Amino acid sequence: MDNNTHQKFSDVRKLFPHTDKIVYFNSGSYGPFCLPVRQAIDDNVAIRLAAESDDSHDAFATRDELRGIYASMIGADECEIGIGASTSFGLNIAAFGLPLEPGDEVIVSDVEFPAIVYCWRAAAEARQLKLVFVESTDRQFDLDKFRNAITDRTKVLALSWVQYFDGYKNDLAEIGAICREHGIYFVVDGIQGMGTEPIDVHDLKLDLFTSGCQKWMLAPQGCAFFYLSKELQKILTPPFMSWLGVDWKMNFTDLFQYDLPYFESAAKYELGYYAVLNLLGMKAASQLFLDLGIDNIGAHNHALIDRLAAYIKGSSFYRITSSMEEKHRSSLFTFSCDNLKQLHRHILKQGIILVQREGSIRVSVHLFNNESDIDRLIDALDTFSQS
Ligand SMILES: Cc1ncc(COP(=O)(O)O)c(C=O)c1O
Repeated sequence: MDNNTHQKFSDVRKLFPHTDKIVYFNSGSYGPFCLPVRQAIDDNVAIRLAAESDDSHDAFATRDELRGIYASMIGADECEIGIGASTSFGLNIAAFGLPLEPGDEVIVSDVEFPAIVYCWRAAAEARQLKLVFVESTDRQFDLDKFRNAITDRTKVLALSWVQYFDGYKNDLAEIGAICREHGIYFVVDGIQGMGTEPIDVHDLKLDLFTSGCQKWMLAPQGCAFFYLSKELQKILTPPFMSWLGVDWKMNFTDLFQYDLPYFESAAKYELGYYAVLNLLGMKAASQLFLDLGIDNIGAHNHALIDRLAAYIKGSSFYRITSSMEEKHRSSLFTFSCDNLKQLHRHILKQGIILVQREGSIRVSVHLFNNESDIDRLIDALDTFSQS
């Protein structure tokens, strides 16, 4: 990374006031606010408090801008991006909108974040589908077992891009190719990779990609976007519909019109009016990603993880539990040891925020972290292992 880019990361760190005191390694749960997000929200609160004007047009404009921003980040077109409230929102569009028949099979992994499983379990119950769990190998999605699980009734694979508990990044290109070969819709929960791993959904020919923005995207909680390929939009029945699923051309003075055509874009699959404060927060946060570049953010995070991994590798007390393979690694790094609960308590006491997941300590390394954060964690690990 050149000096200029390095400097940009140092400058961005200053926008996160928590970095003065706290070492925050928990963006895999939810990201911290930065000053521009707060400012954007505060400004709108002031406008609403004054109540002098109707600012709803600004909200629509912000929403449209966000479509363009997220489209540019993932290699999509604006008309393929919808704004939602959660990752689950996008998953449910697929689960209840895809053209599936009773008896069709949906494949999920047996080590999956529950968002995918519960959504498809409910769809399976409602639509008489069969939910098939593919057994993992060493807790990783196994391509051979996936191939073996495919039957002529298999219609959907729903999978996390990056697994929440160890950061394993699935190879969407390889898996997507198998899906296409067998005519299987590929639905991707992208939340644990969005903002830190580059992606091009057109190159990958994904059908649906959905991501909350409350974690790595550093936006307020309760906001998300989804990508629906143009091809999928042609065959996807909206599982719900709102009055904003049609084009009012920003004219809200004459609403007794009940035969307007639906939007011919992902906007048709959104649901009602927007959480405006969230939209503003999303926009302010997304500027950081546009300024730094997702490639650079990934490289920055991986370099910091390498520093930590080098310490763990040299220790007989700790062991790495996440993949360090280039194509499978992400910005989530995990390791384990005996007395995990005590270790977690010890780390928290040092003002270092992270979580335990499925038998490991999970370290989420992000754009505001730096080497001194990693060194503080290493110090905490050192004192624990020697106590
Ligand atoms: C892989 C994964 N999917 C989804 C979610 C969250 O789903 P939602 O945004 O619907 O709450 C999380 C974490 O909370 C996650 O780790």
